[in-house]
Amino acid sequence: MTTVGVITGAASGMGRACLERLRGTVDALLAVDLEAPAIDGAEGVACDVRDAVAVEALAGRVRELGTFRTLVHAAGISPMMGDARTIVDVNLVGTARILDAFEPLVVPGSVAVPFSSSAGYLPLALLGDELTGLVGQPRTADFLDRAAPLLPDTGMAYSYSKVGVQLEARKAAVRWAPLGGRVVSLSPGSIDTPMGRLELENQPVMRDMLDAHPMARLGGAGEIAAVVAFICSDDASFLSGIDVLVDGAEQAKQMTATQG
Ligand SMILES: NC(=O)c1ccc[n+]([C@@H]2O[C@H](COP(=O)([O-])OP(=O)(O)OC[C@H]3O[C@@H](n4cnc5c(N)ncnc54)[C@H](O)[C@@H]3O)[C@@H](O)[C@H]2O)c1
Repeated sequence: MTTVGVITGAASGMGRACLERLRGTVDALLAVDLEAPAIDGAEGVACDVRDAVAVEALAGRVRELGTFRTLVHAAGISPMMGDARTIVDVNLVGTARILDAFEPLVVPGSVAVPFSSSAGYLPLALLGDELTGLVGQPRTADFLDRAAPLLPDTGMAYSYSKVGVQLEARKAAVRWAPLGGRVVSLSPGSIDTPMGRLELENQPVMRDMLDAHPMARLGGAGEIAAVVAFICSDDASFLSGIDVLVDGAEQAKQMTATQG
């Protein structure tokens, strides 16, 4: 049976790096983005993850081709790329939608890696009880109407969306485990991609974070793709239901700063 790997956000940055890294691990690769990417050896698919019909069609294409082996869901937008509602819609609702669409395809060996962020390590309590209660409900019809007005800015919206991605990954991991599937969210720190550079150039706080970074550098997309490749491999067959933080000890520095 033909094994199929799907990479969203494949036109750019870490999605593209993951696609290159996963070559040869599956029989067929689907490169997914807002516009169908033209990449040798991969079938380009246009799919906006906000579009339920397009996401279902993507899952249908996997079913036509063979068995679902790998889903790397790197599509996402950052604080500079949209308003709070759009950020939560793409990053969190989109992740719930794509995990739901792929769930009926899960067979032993299927793996999904939705992209969260080190920003998803924000303590949710900082955002208040109502947003905390809502974060696990991205499928409810009025979720965006209720959550978006409570988010103070696009940076918080981004963090909130990525907290939600980690939660969706953990919940899906529990559902998929009896089917033989695994789900592991991946949280990059600051990475040298078009998105990472956009934030660095426009948000002074990102420059301050880089100046204070324990490794004094951005991560490379290839360094993320290498970890994703391990997560997707059979070597990681008992790894599921967690977030893998790949940030060069940046969060560790913040977490331990006040602990002597
Ligand atoms: N770059 C960083 O520093 C950083 C840090 C932490 C987390 N992340 C996360 O990693 C993932 C990849 O980021 P990147 O830096 O490679 O970004 P990028 O902007 O280089 O690539 C993201 C891709 O997602 C696609 N995309 C955006 N909205 C989409 C939608 N609605 N439907 C389908 N595709 C869509 C874009 O067209 C783009 O090709 C994102 O989820 C991002 O939030 C990035």
